[in-house]
Amino acid sequence: MKDFKSDFPIFRNNPWIVFFDNAASTQKPSYVIDGIKNFMENDYANIHRWAYSLSERSESLYEKSKEKVKEFINASHASEINYTYNSTYALNMVSLSLKRSWMLKRWDKVLLSIVEHHANIVPWLILKEEIWIEIDYVKVDESFGLDLSDLKNKLTSDVKVVSLTYVSNVTWQIFDLKGASEIIRWSGKDIMFIIDWSQAIPHFKIDVQDLDCDFLFFTGHKVMAETWIGVLYWKREILKELIPAFWWGWAINWVKKDEFKASGLPHRFEPGTPNIIGAVSLLKALEYIESIGWYEKIEENENMLMNHFLEKYEKIRDKVKLIWSDKSLNRVWVFTFAADWIHPTDIADILAENDICVRAWHHCAEPFMDHCDLKTTLRASIYLYNTKEDIDRFFEVFERILNEI
Ligand SMILES: Cc1ncc(COP(=O)(O)O)c(C=O)c1O
Repeated sequence: MKDFKSDFPIFRNNPWIVFFDNAASTQKPSYVIDGIKNFMENDYANIHRWAYSLSERSESLYEKSKEKVKEFINASHASEINYTYNSTYALNMVSLSLKRSWMLKRWDKVLLSIVEHHANIVPWLILKEEIWIEIDYVKVDESFGLDLSDLKNKLTSDVKVVSLTYVSNVTWQIFDLKGASEIIRWSGKDIMFIIDWSQAIPHFKIDVQDLDCDFLFFTGHKVMAETWIGVLYWKREILKELIPAFWWGWAINWVKKDEFKASGLPHRFEPGTPNIIGAVSLLKALEYIESIGWYEKIEENENMLMNHFLEKYEKIRDKVKLIWSDKSLNRVWVFTFAADWIHPTDIADILAENDICVRAWHHCAEPFMDHCDLKTTLRASIYLYNTKEDIDRFFEVFERILNEI
């Protein structure tokens, strides 16, 4: 098994740290860090309307980054890829643009699932307040999978948007979005299908054409790129009809004192100077995944770690419950623990004193936590650079805490 850890300088500089907070944000390999440094030292300049080669080179890397994303998600054209700042920003851009374009109006309904992250709830709640749209939530089944029959029942004629995560950041179940897509399309209704790929991008590839989604978004920092770079894929046909939520800078073709003309696609959805360095970091992060043998290598490593984690968990399973279903193993290998006799934030604090980084709280999925009557949980999220030794250290301290308290 390859030692991926040595590709990540942060672990050379902090060898004692066990980093299990990867679902919040991932560490960066030298390939990304050196790639950004090299770009800034050799090729950086502002892009668009260039008359000199530095700007040309900078723009060509910006566009190459979009080409790489296009390949990764199998979009039909790079102009369907827009850069935003993160997933939260992307969904706000979508919801506000739909409102501005009158594609969402009073009494139109948006269907979400009960496990959604706040990023895929709050922008809709804002529209509920502003223009009185309706919101409803699709249930999950006993294995935490998306309840497809509930989805089917809830597809009433007022539903205009179905917006679903691919992977829940609490249960870690992978939703059957191919099944959801088929139900949505076979209904024959004019429904926009949106996918939150934020927790899937670190672990597996997606095919937007196969899933036939209208929008898809993710955030770069969860897949080893910088923060403040996000991706928003929009199907070309929809893009042509949409009026962007924000206009300025590069989104504009010309401006007179009393009027302006919008620029073409995709620039009209990227107002102002974009995060060029972030775009290059995303290019490098996706190239890194290719260079290590694609997602298959990540999966291979994660499966090995998952088996080790579950073996260790056996010893403490009476004391702390995993939010987990044995009935379905169609999941990503992140572990969320629930304990009602001790506050998970206290466990996280003691783990932190032992240089073990985990996350405790509601993970920005409060409707689901309420639904399960949970206040706080503890999340240990593993990624490709973690090792069996990390897992051993985590359980050594975790077990001690559970025995002592
Ligand atoms: C499922 C899901 N969607 C959206 C987000 C929001 O990502 P960002 O904070 O980068 O906008 C997260 C972050 O944890 C997430 O887990």
